[in-house]
Parts: sequence; structure tokens; C-alpha cells
Amino acid sequence: MSVKCRKWVLKSHFCGMPKREDLDIVEEELPPLKDGEFLCEAVWLSVDPYMRPYTKNFPPGSSMIGGQVAKVVESRSSNYSVGDLVVGNYGWRTHTVVSDSVPEAAGGRSKLSPTLYKDRESTAVGVLGMPGATAYFGFLNLCTPKEGETLVVNGAAGAVGSLVGQIAKIKGCRVVGFAGSDEKVEYVKGLGFDEAFNYKTMGSMSETLKKACPKGIDLFFDNVGGEWFETVLAQMNTFGRVSICGAISQYNAEEKPKGNYVSQLILGHQLKVEGFIVLRWIKEWPECFKQMSQWIAEGKLKYEETVTVGFDNMFDAFLGLFTGANIGKAVVKA
Ligand SMILES: NC(=O)c1ccc[n+]([C@@H]2O[C@H](COP(=O)([O-])OP(=O)(O)OC[C@H]3O[C@@H](n4cnc5c(N)ncnc54)[C@H](OP(=O)(O)O)[C@@H]3O)[C@@H](O)[C@H]2O)c1
Repeated sequence: MSVKCRKWVLKSHFCGMPKREDLDIVEEELPPLKDGEFLCEAVWLSVDPYMRPYTKNFPPGSSMIGGQVAKVVESRSSNYSVGDLVVGNYGWRTHTVVSDSVPEAAGGRSKLSPTLYKDRESTAVGVLGMPGATAYFGFLNLCTPKEGETLVVNGAAGAVGSLVGQIAKIKGCRVVGFAGSDEKVEYVKGLGFDEAFNYKTMGSMSETLKKACPKGIDLFFDNVGGEWFETVLAQMNTFGRVSICGAISQYNAEEKPKGNYVSQLILGHQLKVEGFIVLRWIKEWPECFKQMSQWIAEGKLKYEETVTVGFDNMFDAFLGLFTGANIGKAVVKA
């Protein structure tokens, strides 16, 4: 059976905020399946902030990258049957021919566990997927939280930040979060954050931090970068730990800062500052999903999804990441 796939391609590199005309939707005729291959159809597609900086690495004409949950609709593989659900990095496309021989560890394909993802398939690109692993490992392994310590997390109502704050509460920390609207502030307070602020209306970042963290800051999980980094560092306690997860405030910047100076605050406060890419722990992801799933079942971890309906609306969902449109994980229902 010959199938036509629709896919989003990069027409020209983004400059500043992504624009609809930087992308195109095109058709591609897929070849018939060979032995060991299966054809899958997108069910849930993920939009994530990393797509903005990563597209710089690909020439115009390339397909947009990204994860998706897909359903097997035709198979010549003995391991995958029609109806199976898989999660893979297939990009912004409706249909994909996948080979059985691509290793799972390389993100090629992975069958969804029917028990873990029962009734919540979209979480395979959310709380029980890459963003969940980012929060879990990026916080626990790099911030190494201890009971009673104070955590500051920005991007607090997003896919990663909302989970980081809740994991920190499970570990007995005091959690102070920052997000971009009053609605988001209420949302994270409802998740159990001790304090939360709308960074767009709070006034001085430094004064707000001082009032919210009278004993100083022990842990900082940075999703946003830019001015946050130095401002939070100035109020960190000796031997504090900083996990550099992302720098979304800089992804659309048209000019780079003049220099990247190593902050003297790191030296003065004897901080441990470490950046990470979540694939570092990919072999341990299943262990994380098991634990997170248990916390969800126990009511200790909550998650939200902002759903955009329609493959043709992927750009709107993507743009929403940079305008603050999403609470929790932004996903697209094909
Ligand atoms: N290191 C890794 O392996 C890894 C893996 C996944 C994600 N990340 C990073 O983690 C961060 C969060 O990702 P996510 O998937 O959880 O996204 P997300 O928080 O669900 O969505 C992005 C949010 O960022 C906020 N934002 C956008 N522009 C901003 C700006 N200029 N200043 C402050 N906040 C801004 C918006 O919320 P507001 O309304 O609050 O502004 C928006 O809703 C990103 O930086 C991402 O690149 C890193």
C-alpha cells in the first residue's frame, strides 16, 4: 500500500521569534514496507523549546524534529503488530516508516507499556517521557536535594518546571517558583509550591527573591537563563547546587551577549553548577517512569497538558512555548 505522508519542513532558519512562513507543510510519498519495517501514524505530537535552537543545526528543507506517540497501521515486522503504540523521534510528520533494526536506545522506537501508559498515551512525550526524565534526573542528580533546603525554579508552570517543584516537595524542600501569569502562579501554588510569583509583574527580581528566600537559596533549577542566572546566584548559600536545564529567554535572541564570563559568584559562594542534556541518563529512563508513575498513583505528583488539536496547528502550539500559552506539557493531537 502506498501512503502519502504530510510533514513540516524548515523553509528558512528562524530569526528572532519563529514565524509561520519559516515553515511549510509538504507531502511525501512513502515507499512500500520491506521486511522488518512497520508503518505508523502519529497520534500525539510533541512541541518542545529545544526545537528552536536545534533547527540551527539543519539546512533549510530539513524536516522538523521531535518526538511523537504513533500507532502501527501496517507491519512487516515480527515484533510490531497493527494497533501497537510506539514512541519515537519521528519529527513533525503524519506517517513514518520505521525499521526494526534501529536500536531503541538511539530513540528509534519503543513500544508503549500498556500498563504504564493506560488511558494516558500522551504522557509518553510528557510526564512519563523526555520532559519527565529531564525534571527527575536534572533535579535529583545535579541539585542533590536535602530535606529543608530551599529551591528556586523558573518556568515553574511548564512541563519540566512544574514537575521539578513537586519532586522537590516530595524530597522535603521549600520550593519557590516563578511563572509568567497569575493563573500559572495559582496553578503551581495548587501543586504545593510554598511560594510563587508572576515574574512579569513582581517588580525587582532580586528583592522578590530576598523576601521569598530569607535563609538564602540552596538549589536553583534554571529553565530560563539570561538575567535569572546571575540574580539567583547572588543569593545562593555556600555550597549550593545549580542545575542548568535550559535558557528559553535566550532562544529567540537576535544578538548574543558580548562575552560569556564565568561568574565570580560561583567562585565566591563555592557553588556547583552543571549543565545537562537528558539523554545522558537514557538507560535509566524506565526506572524514572516507574517512580513517577507511582507518585502519580499516590497523588504526590500531578501533571497538566495543554492540547492543541490538529496536525496543521503544530506551529501555533510551538509558538505558544515562547509566548507562555501552555500550562504543563504542550502536545498536539493529530
Ligand atoms: N537539558 C535538557 O535535556 C532539557 C530537556 C527538556 C527541556 N529543557 C529545557 O527546559 C526548559 C523548559 O522546557 P519545557 O519543555 O518544560 O517547556 P515549558 O516550560 O513547558 O514551556 C515553555 C515556557 O517557558 C516560558 N518562557 C518562554 N519564554 C520565556 C522568557 N523569555 N522568559 C521566561 N520564561 C519564558 C513560558 O512560560 P511563562 O508563561 O512562565 O513565561 C512557556 O510556557 C526549556 O528551557 C527547555 O529548553 C532542557
